[in-house]
Amino acid sequence: MTIENAEQLEALRRIANIVSDVLDFMGKQLTPGMTTRALDDLGRERLAAFGARSAPILTYNFPGATCISINNEAAHGIPSERIIQPGDMVNIDVSAELDGFFADMGATFLVPPIDTQKQALCNATKKALKKAIASVRAGLPLNVIGEAIESVARQSGYTVILNLGSHGTGGALHEEPRFIPSYYDKDDKRKLEDGMVITIEPFLSTGAWQVEESDDGWTLLTPSPYLTAQYEHTLVVTKTGAKVLTRQPDAA
Ligand code: CO
Ligand code: CO
Repeated sequence: MTIENAEQLEALRRIANIVSDVLDFMGKQLTPGMTTRALDDLGRERLAAFGARSAPILTYNFPGATCISINNEAAHGIPSERIIQPGDMVNIDVSAELDGFFADMGATFLVPPIDTQKQALCNATKKALKKAIASVRAGLPLNVIGEAIESVARQSGYTVILNLGSHGTGGALHEEPRFIPSYYDKDDKRKLEDGMVITIEPFLSTGAWQVEESDDGWTLLTPSPYLTAQYEHTLVVTKTGAKVLTRQPDAA
């Protein structure tokens, strides 16, 4: 959506604050020995306490309030009886709706003992997100986002996942611009517009270029032996830069 007034911005801020609170809370509750379903239930209850509705359920009838993806699962992991283990890499993606406004965010959490290679992948992905956010300004080509993400990935020795992208949000979980690649596409003539609400969510990998859908019809898998990390914010494009509405969780 495109934000046109202060009331819309306030409404978007409310839901962005809620998803930020829920993701931060889930990250702090994440402990080895718990199931991903138990973790999802904590998120589900907290969303409900705020009066917010899970966007994946509302939009896609997803079998979980949040997406929880472990290790070779890159995204859209279904909460289940799977037990979180020491050393796991756990991506939690929280998106929700309140009063018709949507926000979407995600982060990758490392369960101790922390592997230095996994930590390096997470650090590079955070750096890519930061650089992409800094590249945003109304009037610029949309492809500055992919350019920024790809440059950090290359410098750090990682690949980007070509078939996962950032996207428009705000009035629906996913809306125009539908797919904002994590790579530079010189033929992409779309522009960043004042008030445009988008996510930026780089997926960097230790070597994979694509993810594949698993047999469950939801989970997107990274081909073995590669790993991916993802960090995602919801933001508004303005003439002076990006107004980021979601907050990085403390534990990620
Ligand atoms: Co998203
Ligand atoms: Co998301």
